[in-house]
Amino acid sequence: MKINTIACSPIDGQEPGTSGLRKKTRVFMAPGYLENFIQATFDAIGGGQGKTIVIGGDGRFFNTQAIQTILKMAAANGVTKAIVGEDGLLSTPAASHLIRLNAADGGFILSASHNPGGIDEDFGVKFNGQNGGPAPEGLTAKIYAATQTITQYQTVEGNDIDLSALGTSALGNMSVDVVDPVASYATLMQELFDFDAIRALFASGFTMCFDAMHAVTGPYAKTILEDTLGAAAGTVVNGTPLEDFGKGHPDPNPIWAKTLMDLMMSDAAPDMGAASDGDGDRNMIVGRGIYVTPSDSLAILAANAHLAPAYAQGLVGIARSMPTSAASDRVAQKRGIALFETPTGWKFFGNLLDAGKVTICGEESAGTGSDHVREKDGLWAVLLWLNILAVRKQSVAEIVHDHWATYGRDYYARCDYEAIETQKANALMAALRAKLPDLAGQTVAGLEISGADEFSYDDPVDGSVSKNQGLRITFKGGGRAVFRLSGTGTQGATLRLYLEQYSGQTGTVTRETLAALQPVRDAALAVSNLQTMINRNAPDVIT
Ligand code: G6P
Ligand code: ZN
Repeated sequence: MKINTIACSPIDGQEPGTSGLRKKTRVFMAPGYLENFIQATFDAIGGGQGKTIVIGGDGRFFNTQAIQTILKMAAANGVTKAIVGEDGLLSTPAASHLIRLNAADGGFILSASHNPGGIDEDFGVKFNGQNGGPAPEGLTAKIYAATQTITQYQTVEGNDIDLSALGTSALGNMSVDVVDPVASYATLMQELFDFDAIRALFASGFTMCFDAMHAVTGPYAKTILEDTLGAAAGTVVNGTPLEDFGKGHPDPNPIWAKTLMDLMMSDAAPDMGAASDGDGDRNMIVGRGIYVTPSDSLAILAANAHLAPAYAQGLVGIARSMPTSAASDRVAQKRGIALFETPTGWKFFGNLLDAGKVTICGEESAGTGSDHVREKDGLWAVLLWLNILAVRKQSVAEIVHDHWATYGRDYYARCDYEAIETQKANALMAALRAKLPDLAGQTVAGLEISGADEFSYDDPVDGSVSKNQGLRITFKGGGRAVFRLSGTGTQGATLRLYLEQYSGQTGTVTRETLAALQPVRDAALAVSNLQTMINRNAPDVIT
């Protein structure tokens, strides 16, 4: 095996964000760009010698080329075994599972998640560790440091691996297993859920539309929902992964999954609608005539998880990201189990899951998951919903309304101001940060502020501290506004304003969401002077 050592120099800006390194695809395609980042990752994990790694991606443009590059670099760095999804495909949760199942040392997941794909769109690379979860901040910092001092990378000469054929081949001294991307994941789902009950649900005439958004979950959803659980043929739509996701935006929310939303709000609606994102870790759940917010979905899944075999013993604890609504806190409180509030980013759940402190986790950004893998898992959430529907024999709407009647409702919306000038976004955050100490007790736009702070997280497992995780302002009467800059954008800055208003236990739970949030929204805009500071009258997206 001939190892080539190629001299290179640091490339600016290779700092992993909320979820790995994300850039425009052409940036990744520039000579040496991907190579520098991969070598820096190997350097940061102490080299590849003797290691087993999993590699796969969401099928977006440049996926298979990137995999060939990584395979050659892995062989040159001494990796013994690479496990790759057929055609280069692996959903993020399936990759996490394969790492765990094979006791691998980690894996490279190629995805920019819900961002569009194509030569002029986005690409991304993320390293997951031995536990199957995204690299924690300590490791991403090491990777970034290595990108800043890199002087060379290693690669082998050799032919590309045929990713379309299952089986084992050799690349230098490394063996490459091309595996079915769906099989072991489908087996895991079968172990977690009552497939007989779900099969009976479909057999009784239950109808569903699962929108795979031309992304990676198509093959998974077809195998599990249609072939195994007996959902009608055609239940999975847009089920063939495409390099450009059909020019769509594979983000399962009411804006980007509008066709599904329109169907679910129409007379022709099936009993349940669901969608997943580019790499299969996000989910959207819609009932006939009712959209379930991710924060509510987390709370409802937590309250009902014991109806599925894997969670029959009850939950140890629940974790949610700070901007996620307090709906799941109410479930934790009632059950007498722990509730952890973490910064945005699935990586922060890893330690809690590994330490056995929580069973279920979720985020307002359409992510829900459990201790079965170390990533959020779109299809898992859909299957847990199906399991609950099969046991409770009620509709999605009935279950949601019953939940609100029991716990009260946390009205919730997120306003995104996208591609704003970074400088303006930073100036807004700085100005608001400076005001925080004096806000409590003040009344803005008719609402009295009860507290204001900047969220900082002390990891209870490894003691690490993550600062600057969002500015939060709470109002008397159960309202809250959170200001945070996104860590996943690839252009300028995205300011997220998260709005929340608790109905109280006896309050009305059937108001229109934005009407219920109006007072909090007015107060948030007033206190931050948002519209003037970033020169925008309205958000680009409200989810
Ligand atoms: C990715 C991460 C999530 C995170 C989301 C939004 O999907 O995996 O954990 O919640 O991005 O992050 P952002 O920084 O853009 O708000
Ligand atoms: Zn994703």
